[in-house]
Amino acid sequence: TDLAHIRNFSIVAHIDHGKSTLADRLIQSTNTVSEREMKEQLLDAMDIERERGITIKANTVRIEYIADNGEQYVLNLIDTPGHVDFAYEVSRSMRAVEGSLLVVDSTQGVEAQTLANVYQAIDADHEIVPVLNKIDLPASEPERVKEQIEDVIGIDAEHALLVSAKSGLGIKETLEAIVHRLPAPTGERDAPLKAMLVDSWYDAYLGVVVLVRIMDGVLKKGDKIKMMQTGATYPVDRIGVFRPAMQNVDELGPGEIGFLTAQIKQVRDTKVGDTITHEKKGAEKPLPGFKPSVPVVFCGLFPVDSAEFEDLRDAIEKLALNDASFSYEMETSAALGFGFRCGFLGLLHLEVIRDRLEREYDIELITTAPSVIYHVYMKDDTKIDLHNPADMPDMSKVDHVEEPRIKATILVPDEYLGDVLKLCQDRRGLQLDLTYAGNRAMVVYDLPLNEVVFDFYDRLKSVTKGYASFDYQMIGYREDNLVRMSILVNDEAVDALSMLVHRDRAEMRGRAMCEKLKELIPRHMFKIPIQAAIGGKVIARETLSAMRKDVTAKCYGGDATRKKKLLEKQKAGKKKMRQFGKVEIPQEAFISALKMD
Ligand code: GTP
Repeated sequence: TDLAHIRNFSIVAHIDHGKSTLADRLIQSTNTVSEREMKEQLLDAMDIERERGITIKANTVRIEYIADNGEQYVLNLIDTPGHVDFAYEVSRSMRAVEGSLLVVDSTQGVEAQTLANVYQAIDADHEIVPVLNKIDLPASEPERVKEQIEDVIGIDAEHALLVSAKSGLGIKETLEAIVHRLPAPTGERDAPLKAMLVDSWYDAYLGVVVLVRIMDGVLKKGDKIKMMQTGATYPVDRIGVFRPAMQNVDELGPGEIGFLTAQIKQVRDTKVGDTITHEKKGAEKPLPGFKPSVPVVFCGLFPVDSAEFEDLRDAIEKLALNDASFSYEMETSAALGFGFRCGFLGLLHLEVIRDRLEREYDIELITTAPSVIYHVYMKDDTKIDLHNPADMPDMSKVDHVEEPRIKATILVPDEYLGDVLKLCQDRRGLQLDLTYAGNRAMVVYDLPLNEVVFDFYDRLKSVTKGYASFDYQMIGYREDNLVRMSILVNDEAVDALSMLVHRDRAEMRGRAMCEKLKELIPRHMFKIPIQAAIGGKVIARETLSAMRKDVTAKCYGGDATRKKKLLEKQKAGKKKMRQFGKVEIPQEAFISALKMD
């Protein structure tokens, strides 16, 4: 296809504003797939994605459309992940296209995620067409939302399209707007091949599939290609496009978006943002802006049943093959036994991986508190990147500690603003900005990432009844007065519960932890002291009193199967307990103890 008849675009939207419904409609109305093949929400492939209503991996579809001017166009839609954890993948997808549809629910308005993604689109120099969706609903307020788009985002919304993705209203206009308001791609057919690696994933039949956008040159089946970042070379087996099912093609030229397979063994060998060129007569310089995505949140994953350690290892290795941004290494914990210290792009990424391990591989897991990477500067001038609070060196040897900070943007209806400010303040936030758009406030905070990774989303959702939206970006490291707090149960330190805390909050956190643990640990035949300590100094203490002997609890007589059932229950329950010294700690304690109220 010649460049003038190609349009590449993405859809920017907040969760639930109708991105998938609109994409489905665009595909359907151009007869890209037959009715029979049309599944609801075609683009969200994975179960977990659908269940959680989120889109994780970038997906793409090629639509052929005959416009009102009688000419046929190829429209390539790249679906971008909507969640903050995948910001880098969003930015790559954005660089692969020239324009965006900004979908805003006309009954709701602009949300924090919309903002973050639309700024990425603006950074990528996109032409942006605002689409006001759900205008079939009585609560739709297109004029108010137009104004809000102009006030908050600062783009012209006068010619925003009025659409109901559900009923199909405005779909024709949207297709025409894509053709006439978005620019065609540019690129040179005769130049050396430059293809951007937009995404990659593992397919059970085809192996690793790589999504590419051709910037210059032509990619053909049988070509020998080279990944410019990794230097690896491969012969191309197959190239094709998504309609949305895979369809082989002979070549992909400038401006086109499609896939290749090339006997690449693992997804780890493909780096999002890398430039693909020919092995011979290749491009000299890669496309600008490549950066590897690095894990920022770490936690330990341990099998509940230690006999499942090998299964866990297999499962983690398999998942890692298909997810370059997930890292892992073996870890041993005195409290939890053998497991893995894993790194993730963010909390959602962590949850998705943990879910998949539990569901697809059927392994019950204990997850330790998520932690961030601290920079620990030692008195002897060395520096340690600390991934696990349990490895914190002796404080007397530490000069100072730096922690990662984020810039968080929160959009919230007025009436909840006070609670949001309090929450941010409690989490050691520094307010950077506070503005209003209609009856909604936009607050910007500088927050320590470690105060956000655990339960910030949950707290934010609960104090705002789900009305707040949240987005963040990393801003760098800063020194603060951070110390390691250990938790001792029956005078032994439980490594899985140690954490770095701000000195001023240590007593409060320590007290809260001890009180929580006292509730969570069942009574034993003896008294159990529960303490929080910094270095050798105890800062909080609770005592779990001894259990009184209870003879009536014994099971006399009764029928045998009932007894057996009870015994089985006991055994299952035991598995969920971690023997620690002489004390048994239920697994929920490890997570619950760290949640703050
Ligand atoms: P994520 O996949 O979670 O990012 O959400 P999304 O933005 O793709 O939203 P989705 O298309 O799943 O739509 C969210 C909900 O809004 C669904 O229940 C849709 O049926 C509904 N919806 C989408 N478009 C319209 C519309 O034009 N009118 C009405 N009334 N409902 C709509």
